[in-house]
Amino acid sequence: MGNQREAQLQERLGRQLILFPLPLQGHISPMLQLATILYSKGFSITIVHTKFNSPNPTNYPHFNFYPISDGLSESQSSPSDVLSLLSLLNQNCIAPFQEALAQLLADKSGDPIACLISDAILYFTSAVAKNFNLPRIVLRTGGVSSFLAFAAFPLLLEKGYIPTQDGRAEELVVELPPLRVKDLPVIKTSNPEMLYEVLERMIQETKNSSGLIWNSFEELEEAALAKLRQDFPIPIFPIGPFHKHFTVSSSNLIAVDTSSISWLNEQSPNSVIYVSFGSIAAIEEKEFIEVAWGLANSKLPFLWVVRPGLVHGAEWLELLPKGFLEKLDGRGHIVKWAPQLEVLAHPAVGAFWTHNGWNSTIESICEGVPMICMPCFTDQQVNARYVSHVWKVGVHLENGLDRVNIEQAIKKIMLEKEGEEIRKRVLHLKEKTNLCLEVGGSSYNSVKTVVNYIASF
Ligand code: UDX
Repeated sequence: MGNQREAQLQERLGRQLILFPLPLQGHISPMLQLATILYSKGFSITIVHTKFNSPNPTNYPHFNFYPISDGLSESQSSPSDVLSLLSLLNQNCIAPFQEALAQLLADKSGDPIACLISDAILYFTSAVAKNFNLPRIVLRTGGVSSFLAFAAFPLLLEKGYIPTQDGRAEELVVELPPLRVKDLPVIKTSNPEMLYEVLERMIQETKNSSGLIWNSFEELEEAALAKLRQDFPIPIFPIGPFHKHFTVSSSNLIAVDTSSISWLNEQSPNSVIYVSFGSIAAIEEKEFIEVAWGLANSKLPFLWVVRPGLVHGAEWLELLPKGFLEKLDGRGHIVKWAPQLEVLAHPAVGAFWTHNGWNSTIESICEGVPMICMPCFTDQQVNARYVSHVWKVGVHLENGLDRVNIEQAIKKIMLEKEGEEIRKRVLHLKEKTNLCLEVGGSSYNSVKTVVNYIASF
């Protein structure tokens, strides 16, 4: 046994944590990363998870995994109607989770349970934990700024900013600068009441929690964190970026195509545009074709993640113009799922065309990769505004998804002076992420505080 591992075992705290991720890729990864951080600090870990999108336990041999029923039918188990999925999970999981907690608390063979850590969106866990007098800490997997925008929904409704109207898209939301109406974290839905309810309950049960953990860091979202501390009088722990605390194990729900890396190895430094729109967002056929031509016309090499399900009504690549890739003569590489952390860290990658899910945003910042922002819904819209207008580490692709706009945005970020300035700023921000994790840095200190706090329960 290595010395390090031995020391780790000697430092076990004899306390167990129950972690419950929301079963979507962008939420499972940060929860398992948080579990790894807390395990390394001496807690034993039990992951309660739904059968839908269940994580792969073999990647985490030190954790105990506890599956519960989610009661979802096959058609409901699809993130294509993400809002209904969130609402259903919060109803269907109440009884199974209650049973799981009862069993775990009654089991005296493991370490005593200190608390529950649940995804903010699994708000139903608040009442269940309360029934057992178990403290509940919340992990919010998005950014702080978008969370404040969610918390402002009652005000935004009262002032008439939402439901959003196309005619007011460019208007500044004076209560939430620098957001404009079109940056507000809404989603197209036939049932806006459901959206408001999910958000209201997420906010309320976060306020009722014993603490709030963020995959963000003080220097990135200083002003938002200050406002949060005013409005949410609970302990707040910004300890991100999570994945930079250690070497991460995979929590991918889709098999990774490692040809991404062998292909990147053949490309020149900073020459490739990496394109991925995350795990849920979907685009129309017409938009897909514009993306393809925009990339082709830029004349630059690209690595493009086309997830099955990315294009409404398509299996995978059948809608691409005939011979599209062949004509590019090796300049383009398309995969179903890439090892994104490795891709972003690869010296050949010069820019990331992203939907600005929070994980992708923070991963790009950590590797100092400039972004082209194409947000699709909810928090992505807020993240994109911060990337392009606050941190100024990306360009916003705003005037429609057409091949000319795309080609211009790619050239701007990869070849022009503005792109050079953006690259300098993102490299500076990357330095800040490194510093916050070093001994005495803000996230380093915040991890110590949260560990002591949880151990005191
Ligand atoms: C969802 C929501 O859409 C987003 O708004 C919210 O912030 C988080 O949950 P998602 O589409 O999953 O986001 O995007 P993101 O948060 O960026 O997470 C995607 C994760 O998948 C990232 O960690 C990324 O590294 C990983 N990924 C993505 C891969 O490993 N390979 C890929 O090919 C694409």
